[in-house]
Amino acid sequence: MTRIAVLIGSTRPGRRGVVVADWVARAAAAHPAVAAGEVAVDVVDLADHALPLLDEPVPALAADYRHEHTRGWAEVIGSYDGFVFVTPEYNHSFPAALKNAVDFLFAEWNDKAAGFVSYGAHGGIRAVEQLRTVLAEVKVATVRTQVFFSMAGDLELFTDPDAWTASTYQTENLGTMLDELIAWTVALKPVRTKAVA
Ligand SMILES: Cc1cc2nc3c(=O)[nH]c(=O)nc-3n(C[C@H](O)[C@H](O)[C@H](O)COP(=O)(O)O)c2cc1C
Repeated sequence: MTRIAVLIGSTRPGRRGVVVADWVARAAAAHPAVAAGEVAVDVVDLADHALPLLDEPVPALAADYRHEHTRGWAEVIGSYDGFVFVTPEYNHSFPAALKNAVDFLFAEWNDKAAGFVSYGAHGGIRAVEQLRTVLAEVKVATVRTQVFFSMAGDLELFTDPDAWTASTYQTENLGTMLDELIAWTVALKPVRTKAVA
């Protein structure tokens, strides 16, 4: 079975990332491949892993993890084939906690695919542009279609998240993004197998 993680990229108390990720997981359940049991979708919350600022003495490329928290994080990320990054925009980029979580690992990200759901005052577009560049360095292939939520179109997400719901357009866009993500995740499977052979 193909396993996809919906990664919550923000960690602050009161973050909207949980609401957005829960919507992604609920909407993804209706995707034909998920409904058919061919693809599993889980929410993975960075806040549950409480990673410190990078404290490994050796760069992740060397795969010589010294700390239990790194090995635990590696086990989580290594168990997934693809990712939906749920990220806000912080000062025109994605959160430092998410960059730190990416930096901890290398092989566990390699030859996998990712899609993005972003949000922020202006939709988180700049955060995703930067995240794509970072993910390229850890050999993650990123799909084109992106879902975003801005204060202009989705004010309730920021002011009254319990009352917020995504539009039909956004829900359809998520379906398109998942089509692309699942196709690339499956297509990259032989590359991942070859890499560990
Ligand atoms: C430190 C910080 C910086 C922010 N910078 C931006 C920004 O540059 N552009 C933007 O559109 N929104 C910005 N925002 C608004 C956030 O994207 C919005 O509050 C979002 O809900 C934050 O994600 P979170 O609730 O999951 O923490 C910023 C918010 C914070 C907390």
